[in-house]
Amino acid sequence: MRLRGRKGIRENLEQQTDLVVLEPHTYKGRWHEFFGNDRPIYVELGMGKGKFVSGMSAKYPEVNFIGVDMYDELVRRASDKARAIWAAQGVDSPPNVALARANIETIEEIFAPGEIDRVYLNFSDPWPKARHARRRLTHPRFVEKYIEMMNATGEIHFKTDSETLFEFSLNSFADMGLQMTNISLNLHRDGINEEHVMTEYESKFMGKGMNIHRVEVIIGEEAMRSYQDRKQAAALKAAHDEAELRDEDDQDDTQDV
Ligand SMILES: C[S@@+](CC[C@H](N)C(=O)[O-])C[C@H]1O[C@@H](n2cnc3c(N)ncnc32)[C@H](O)[C@@H]1O
Repeated sequence: MRLRGRKGIRENLEQQTDLVVLEPHTYKGRWHEFFGNDRPIYVELGMGKGKFVSGMSAKYPEVNFIGVDMYDELVRRASDKARAIWAAQGVDSPPNVALARANIETIEEIFAPGEIDRVYLNFSDPWPKARHARRRLTHPRFVEKYIEMMNATGEIHFKTDSETLFEFSLNSFADMGLQMTNISLNLHRDGINEEHVMTEYESKFMGKGMNIHRVEVIIGEEAMRSYQDRKQAAALKAAHDEAELRDEDDQDDTQDV
């Protein structure tokens, strides 16, 4: 029976504990326990209906994949897709997939430092208005979160149809000292590049004859060090500010006496 309505979708998701994680913060630092192995973990942030994450899980069974999206309905659709792909291979429960319902704004509550090996950002919302730039998933405030989740060998793979988001993102990565490689302004110039698993949006944009832009970003030792330095400086400043506030409070108390 197909469950309908918001309550039905939630009940459906609650029953899929082998695949769907509705409280992903409970796995922070323990994702390897979910998968039952120590293999690398790749995460797609904003997976939509899950075509990419499912396709990747079947193509690379030696890697664990986590798809993240904030909508129950999309997580449900992604779960159908993952199960169908693995069922075609005679496997009931996708062994290397987790689908997490979460808001990327608070992604640091879900993954511990160094827990993730690669982040995929596929056709992230472009947020074209300048005043919305901070919402773009390649804004430095998000990239810092991704760096925190990975180590120096971590990578971000980014695909988009939007030329302006691509340009913004390359600048954002460069400003943070990240290394960029395999940059393409037209990924499927010579026909569909079979090496890459397509996403739903990618198929849609390809159908409209639009160019797909892609870049691979490597964090590297230097960017990791400068991130750690910035983090330490921010922590020292916060401690200093707090001490100053305490001193001011103490002085106020003395004057009151
Ligand atoms: C344009 S769609 C791309 C979907 C898919 N990656 C693809 O290429 O077909 C962007 C997706 O990101 C998700 N998303 C956007 N902001 C998010 C956030 N803050 N937290 C979680 N998911 C988010 C949306 O729900 C949507 O499914």
